[in-house]
Amino acid sequence: MDKYANSIATRYDKLSGQDCCLSCGGAFSLATIKPGDVCVDLGCGKGRDVMRMATLAGKKGFAYGIDLSEGMMEASRQEAKKLGLTNVAFIRSPLENIKLENQVADVLISNCTINHSLSQDKVWKEIFRVLKQGGQFVVSDIYSLEPVPEPFRGNPDMVAECWAGAITKKTYLNHIKQAGLRNIDIVEESLPYEKGRIRVASFTVKGCR
Ligand SMILES: C[S@@+](CC[C@H](N)C(=O)[O-])C[C@H]1O[C@@H](n2cnc3c(N)ncnc32)[C@H](O)[C@@H]1O
Repeated sequence: MDKYANSIATRYDKLSGQDCCLSCGGAFSLATIKPGDVCVDLGCGKGRDVMRMATLAGKKGFAYGIDLSEGMMEASRQEAKKLGLTNVAFIRSPLENIKLENQVADVLISNCTINHSLSQDKVWKEIFRVLKQGGQFVVSDIYSLEPVPEPFRGNPDMVAECWAGAITKKTYLNHIKQAGLRNIDIVEESLPYEKGRIRVASFTVKGCR
């Protein structure tokens, strides 16, 4: 793991043992999940949305949670066991190299996670790779109003705090287009607000392969 992945895993391993809300968006509620669907949540944290997707996808469907933090993956596995869910798997994996086969997913969601990556272009190429033809993505995240100054982007702890890795809206949407995804639509967007040492906005983007 590089120093950024280390800081992210350390921060979220700690948070996995605490009762706190991690989310900044509502990707799950804007996704359409049908019985039999294979679903993926990138940066699933404690797996709450993975379990909700698994319930909607039913016994013939499946839901994968992907996260860098082993603490989060273990907390998710324990919760799924308590709920008796057998159609879920929690995989420790970086977003930039997702440990899933090509074209497995009907639905892919992600909440407040992709901003942690300094290679967001790679993450979007991975999203394209794991989606089936026609598969949908719904991603909630933040973007920065201005390019984030290098001293912040270069600081792994600030990136792990969910703000210093943010990129501008133009660059964000460009990565999605460059990955080959289609029907890209911003379905929610906040007013700008302060996060860490910068100004950001939250948005939810939908589209398909
Ligand atoms: C702010 S939390 C959001 C968790 C969950 N999506 C929610 O809404 O409650 C971000 C999650 O993304 C994971 N994460 C951050 N960067 C990652 C990366 N490069 N690869 C895989 N997981 C990552 C973190 O470990 C953490 O669990």
